[in-house]
Amino acid sequence: MNICLKEEVQALGFMNVEESHMSVSFQGTLADCMKLNLFLRTGHSVLFLIKEFPARTPDDLYKEMIEIPWEEYIDLNGYFSVTSFSDNPEINDSRFPNLKCKDAIADRITAKKGARPNSGPDRNKTVINLHWREDRGAVYIDSSGETIAKHGYRKIPFKAPLQESLAAALILTSKWDKNSNFINPMCGSGTLAIEAALIAQNRAPGLLRSNFGFMHVIGFEAEPWEEMRRETKLLAKRNLDFKIIATDINEDAIQAAQRNAATAGVDHVIEFSCCDFRETPIPEGGGVVLINPEYGERLGEVDELRTLYKEIGDFFKKSCSGYLGYVFTGNLDLGKQVGLKPKRKIEFYNSKIDCRLLEFELYSGTKKLGNGEQETQKSKDV
Ligand SMILES: C[S@@+](CC[C@H](N)C(=O)[O-])C[C@H]1O[C@@H](n2cnc3c(N)ncnc32)[C@H](O)[C@@H]1O
Repeated sequence: MNICLKEEVQALGFMNVEESHMSVSFQGTLADCMKLNLFLRTGHSVLFLIKEFPARTPDDLYKEMIEIPWEEYIDLNGYFSVTSFSDNPEINDSRFPNLKCKDAIADRITAKKGARPNSGPDRNKTVINLHWREDRGAVYIDSSGETIAKHGYRKIPFKAPLQESLAAALILTSKWDKNSNFINPMCGSGTLAIEAALIAQNRAPGLLRSNFGFMHVIGFEAEPWEEMRRETKLLAKRNLDFKIIATDINEDAIQAAQRNAATAGVDHVIEFSCCDFRETPIPEGGGVVLINPEYGERLGEVDELRTLYKEIGDFFKKSCSGYLGYVFTGNLDLGKQVGLKPKRKIEFYNSKIDCRLLEFELYSGTKKLGNGEQETQKSKDV
């Protein structure tokens, strides 16, 4: 579960937001979908519910789908695609429900209008989404079209880049106050530093994108959308009075990160340099140091990485006092090698990998506790 999504949706003014395993749900209009697509940093897609229905077999599905007035949503001269999630004993091939839905939509529009819109796999026009679990179906307009988990600036990925929505979720879950230094050693393609800059500048991620699914639904009006974009641009700060620093040992990574930051329009607020993570400049004033080291799933060897994680712990202790340190890893054993006691261990899934964001309070020497006792920075199992 994305632990930030509910807070993000509530902050946009939506009420009665209910969480389930992988999603949040609430009441809204198709026009509200514009706002959600423009502002959400941690979401994957904004689905607008059209109908829920009982359906045991593919024929039930077809009968329910053909009842929906698709001619009111999809232009005859438009193009649509169908995506689906099915968990139904009748279905062996996941493409089959898509086909059934597509046929029902095409047959419905042909019956009402005498012709049908084109359809196919591309998700850059009207996208219809089906969730079919056992004997319950739900059909949505996917108002995002292509996923909004990609924020549109990462033209050059380096090794094992984080998905943009996950990078944003890590930052929003951290205790960064958006007004103090944000340091990202091992920046790779720069996703964390770029997301931090977009968050600090109050720049909506949807501003970087020109096409969404809702634009291809009958009734979409360009003017209110353009007005929302204009107003949103006015909310953005251009400059920051603290530092965002991104470093990597690999010159190609730094070049990719700089190009991506330029595409995102945040290159002027990030200081990039090519160096070993231990040489990363740590300015006075405190803030957050967030590191996403390799964790041996896709890159590197776990044994070699043990030393690296231990060195991250040493770097935190020696160079980062007064900061909050974070390590995001998909290998819990490697996380232990940092050798410091985490204050929080927050669960995330990166694709299917069980990951943790480990939070370390990096005070120097001993810290006075509220009860008059003292706590020394020490090693502890993660
Ligand atoms: C998992 S990738 C980071 C991915 C990044 N979060 C992104 O979204 O693109 C880890 C990065 O650590 C860098 N790295 C490995 N060892 C390093 C070291 N000793 N000092 C600095 N960077 C290092 C690699 O070059 C790689 O870019």
